[in-house]
Amino acid sequence: MRTRVAIIGAGPAGLLLSQLLHNRGIDSVLLEARGREYCEQRQRAGMLEQATVDVLREAGAADRLEREGLVHHGIHLRFAGENRHIDFPSRTGGRSVTVYGQTEIVKDLIAKRLDEGARLYFDAPVTAIEGIDGDAPRVRFVRDGVEETLDCDFVAGCDGFHGVSRPAIPADVLRTYERTYPFAWLGVLADVAPSTDDLIYAYSERGFALHSMRSARVSRLYLQVDPDADLADWPDERIWAELRERLALPGWTLDEGPISDRGITPMRSFVAEPMSFGRLFLAGDAAHIVPPTGAKGLNLAMADVRVLADAFGRWFESGAREGLDAYSETCLRRVWRAEHFSYWMTTLLHHDSGASAFDRRAQVAHLRYVADSAAAMDSLAENYVGYTWAQ
Ligand code: APR
Ligand code: PHB
Repeated sequence: MRTRVAIIGAGPAGLLLSQLLHNRGIDSVLLEARGREYCEQRQRAGMLEQATVDVLREAGAADRLEREGLVHHGIHLRFAGENRHIDFPSRTGGRSVTVYGQTEIVKDLIAKRLDEGARLYFDAPVTAIEGIDGDAPRVRFVRDGVEETLDCDFVAGCDGFHGVSRPAIPADVLRTYERTYPFAWLGVLADVAPSTDDLIYAYSERGFALHSMRSARVSRLYLQVDPDADLADWPDERIWAELRERLALPGWTLDEGPISDRGITPMRSFVAEPMSFGRLFLAGDAAHIVPPTGAKGLNLAMADVRVLADAFGRWFESGAREGLDAYSETCLRRVWRAEHFSYWMTTLLHHDSGASAFDRRAQVAHLRYVADSAAAMDSLAENYVGYTWAQ
C-alpha cells in the first residue's frame, strides 16, 4: 500500500488531519488500532475554543456542531460560599467558547471521512515506523491478523500518549518534560438538565468539582479524587452527595439524574520536544498532555493539526519546506502557554491534602484575587478562550 501521508490514530487529531489533507487534494491513509465503536463511545472533554470551531467549519465538518453546540460566554468560579462569574466576550474582544463533546466530533469526522471514501482502517494497529530519517518512510501494521506495509512520504503520529510514534524519535534527540499531580478526575454523564447556565469550577476543602454539560438534557460533572481511586468505591449516591457538598451555594440546588457513563482519568502535564524528526510529525496527545482543568487538550490537538495540514499543503503544492521545518517550534510556543495555564488552573482549584496551612491560605487568597481583580479576570478569560500571540 502507498500514500502521501500515513496517519496513525483516529482520535480528533488524526481524523481532522485526514479531512484537511483530503480537502487540499492530498492523499492519506489513516490506521487506527481500536474498533470504530470504541472510538465513538469513548467519553472525553468537550470545551472548544473559537479557533477549534473555526477549523472544523473550514474542514466542512461543523454542521451538527453548529446546530447542537452550546455557546458559552463565561465561567463561574465558586469557592468559600461565593459564586463569581467571569465574562469572556467583554474581556477578550468578543470571543466565547462552545461546549460540544469530543466524542461527537469524532463521530462526525468518521462519518464524513467514510462517506468520502477515505482509506480509514479500524482494528489496524501500527507495529513499527521505519525510515523516518530518509525520504521513504514505511509503516508496518496488522489487519485481519496479517502484517501489511504502508509506504509514504510522511508519517503523522496522532496516536495519543500511549502510541508508537513518539518512541520512534531517537532517544538522544527526544526530550520530555513532565509533572504529575496528586489528583485524578472522576467524570460522569447524567441524564438531567444542567443546573447552571455556564460551567461552574468549584474549589472546596473536600476537593475540586466541575459542573459542565453536553445538551439541554445531559449534564457532565467531575470530582477531584485520589489518583488511585477505584470506581467500585463510588456508588451513585456517594457521587451525588459529594457533588452537592462541593458545589453548594446558598439558594442553589443541584438536580440529579441517572448516570449513564463514568470513568476516572489521571492528571498529568507532559511535553515532548521536538514534535518532529525527519519525516515524522507528532500531533495532539502523542506530543503533549495537559490536566483537563484548563480545557486545552482537544484545542491543542486541533491547533497542531491545522499548522501541520498547512505545512504539508505548501510542501505538496510547491516543495516549500519552511512550514514543515518550523512545525515543532510553531506548535511548542502555543503548547507551553497552554501547559502553564492548565497547571495554573489546576493548582488554583484543587485541594492538595499534602499542602501546608500556609499554602492553603495563599491559595484561597489567590482565588479571591482572581475572582475580584479585573486584570486577573482578563488574564483568565484570554487564556481560556485561547491565547493568540500578538507577534
Ligand atoms: N496504531 C494505530 N492507532 C493507535 C496506536 C497504534 N499503534 N496507538 C494508539 N492508537 C490510537 C488510539 O487507539 C486512539 O484512538 O490513536 C488514537 C489517539 O487518539 P486520542 O487519544 O484521542 O488523541 P488525539 O487525537 O491526540 O486527541 C487529543 O484527546 O485525551 C484527549 O485531551 C485530549 O482532547 C484531547 C484529545
Ligand atoms: C467537559 O465538558 O468535559 C469539560 C469542560 C471543561 C473542562 C474539562 C472538561 O475544563
